[in-house]
Amino acid sequence: MTAHKPGDPTTLNRLYGRSIGKPLRAFQQSLVDDFLPQIAVPDEGPVTAERLFGDDRPMHFEIGFGSGEHMADRAENLPDHGFIGAEPFLNGVAAALGHVKERTLPNIRLHHGDALEVLARIPDGSLSFAYLLHPDPWPKARHAKRRMMNDGPVEMLAAKLKPGGEFRFGTDHDIYLRHALMIMRRHSDTFEWLAEGPQDWQNRPSGWSETRYERKARDVFGHEVWYFKYRRR
Ligand SMILES: C[S@@+](CC[C@H](N)C(=O)[O-])C[C@H]1O[C@@H](n2cnc3c(N)ncnc32)[C@H](O)[C@@H]1O
Repeated sequence: MTAHKPGDPTTLNRLYGRSIGKPLRAFQQSLVDDFLPQIAVPDEGPVTAERLFGDDRPMHFEIGFGSGEHMADRAENLPDHGFIGAEPFLNGVAAALGHVKERTLPNIRLHHGDALEVLARIPDGSLSFAYLLHPDPWPKARHAKRRMMNDGPVEMLAAKLKPGGEFRFGTDHDIYLRHALMIMRRHSDTFEWLAEGPQDWQNRPSGWSETRYERKARDVFGHEVWYFKYRRR
């Protein structure tokens, strides 16, 4: 991987696979055409709470929100906070738009595309929370550089979080787990792992809702799921 300069997304590899699945239903297409422009992250310029939400509220950023269930639950529970989610998979964006509309969540902004492109435009030290839940595993060793959990993205997250801000990471993939722990250990000067014992990473913490992906991993594939909270030092 090209040496990553924090804040410069051009030095990061393309990290995602598919960006479209089955054709959208007419209602979903109308959400994408008409509703997404109303709540989309602006295409250019700084991504600040003031610009997106009109005031200086705590900001949360979710990388690859899938269908958006976790983000919608968090936004509903923390109505005074602002949530930004990025997802390149159009069907996921359409599903998330459905949650925002149905549950009337005025505190969510979405980006249809690469999370790192948006993250790069967030001023340093301005995020209160960042989430990376079940990132695409890229299980083959030769694809390891495509994993979101790598030095470049982790350094960028460290720069964008406030001191004391929280980075939550979850996975059900054992290869990814080992890789992530190795990467995060390399960044222990910037991130403090908040676990005190196994119960902290074996059980879902409060304020961390289950997505359909996670339920399927557990119930259909019989996977264990692991939860990690890190505090920006
Ligand atoms: C396995 S799914 C998990 C979805 C969701 N986080 C969950 O837990 O249900 C991984 C998601 O990450 C998204 N993704 C992959 N690369 C991404 C990137 N560079 N920026 C944003 N999202 C990305 C994929 O499109 C996919 O929806």
